[in-house]
Amino acid sequence: MNTILPNSSLEFSGIGKNPEMSLEFSQFDDAPPEVTRRVYDVPYIEQSFDDGGVMWMTRYGWAWREHLAPEKWYHEKQYVNHGTRLTRGTGAVYRVGTAAADGRLLDIVVKFSRFAQDVPLHITVTYPGSIPSNLVDNSRFNSPFYEFGQLKAIRMPSENGTPRIMTGRPLAIYSPANHYKLWQLGRTQHRFNHYDRLLARDQQSVPEEQRLKLDMLRQYIVLFSWEKGEDAELAFLAGKLTGDQLFNMTEEVQDLLEQKGFYVLDNKPRHYIVRTRENGDLLKKDSKIAYSLIDFELLIPIPDQSALS
Ligand SMILES: Nc1ncnc2c1ncn2[C@@H]1O[C@H](COP(=O)(O)OP(=O)(O)OP(=O)(O)O)[C@@H](O)[C@H]1O
Ligand SMILES: [Mg+2]
Repeated sequence: MNTILPNSSLEFSGIGKNPEMSLEFSQFDDAPPEVTRRVYDVPYIEQSFDDGGVMWMTRYGWAWREHLAPEKWYHEKQYVNHGTRLTRGTGAVYRVGTAAADGRLLDIVVKFSRFAQDVPLHITVTYPGSIPSNLVDNSRFNSPFYEFGQLKAIRMPSENGTPRIMTGRPLAIYSPANHYKLWQLGRTQHRFNHYDRLLARDQQSVPEEQRLKLDMLRQYIVLFSWEKGEDAELAFLAGKLTGDQLFNMTEEVQDLLEQKGFYVLDNKPRHYIVRTRENGDLLKKDSKIAYSLIDFELLIPIPDQSALS
């Protein structure tokens, strides 16, 4: 049947793993079990491409699936040739504009996951530094799926009435077909085993045919929505907020995350995107500067206190 999608350009090109399968359904929740995955409590639709690449789209990403197709941003290194490298962090991160056939535009953030790599020491310096130092010293980059799982948890309305936290939206995880040597990816078997075990434990609760595993020799790229504005440190340098405001914001983010049961091990103003209004002031919400939080590769649930001592 080929009638559900209103626009034939929305049909997916290749379904490598399940040649007889087609992704022709109009609602995320109508996806058949063959392409449904659930990882760290996040539901995904899995799309396998003829070239061996695989994409897992979240509910947010599914709404933009045409924009997320690898030929719109990945093939022929479009993220490099047509995108902008975001150099305010230490990883490989790009902003790329994508367009759908109907002219709708979407800017996405393309971020190469660093899981199973060493966390450079200078990344883990936290500010303000009230997170137990053993956690910071032993920090590991989240796997892409774990990162999206933690992000879902902090975005959920909390039972204890803590305010919502605005964040960039997790759209999809894409794993190109290429295989690399471990050293090319900066991973080690030993570090990878940790992620493998964690995921295997999580996947025990889903039917065997829907289980997901990480491939140690493949890259994983996380795709986020581009948040309009600039990061709070840049806003500070432009004189839009004071040093005190910047410090308070940083403390507030950490407090809020802690109330929700989480730490970001590298919490910093570069991870808050603020917006400037037409009159030059920063956008506020409930008389506080509004921000959208980004970068969740070091977002972790606060471990059980007894495990810390
Ligand atoms: N979703 C987004 N929306 C808007 N700006 C973004 C977004 N993601 C990243 N940026 C910008 O790009 C910069 C680098 O991104 P990000 O912090 O994710 O990279 P990183 O390599 O993980 O950095 P770090 O070294 O801090 O871990 C951010 O400081 C911010 O200025
Ligand atoms: Mg980071």
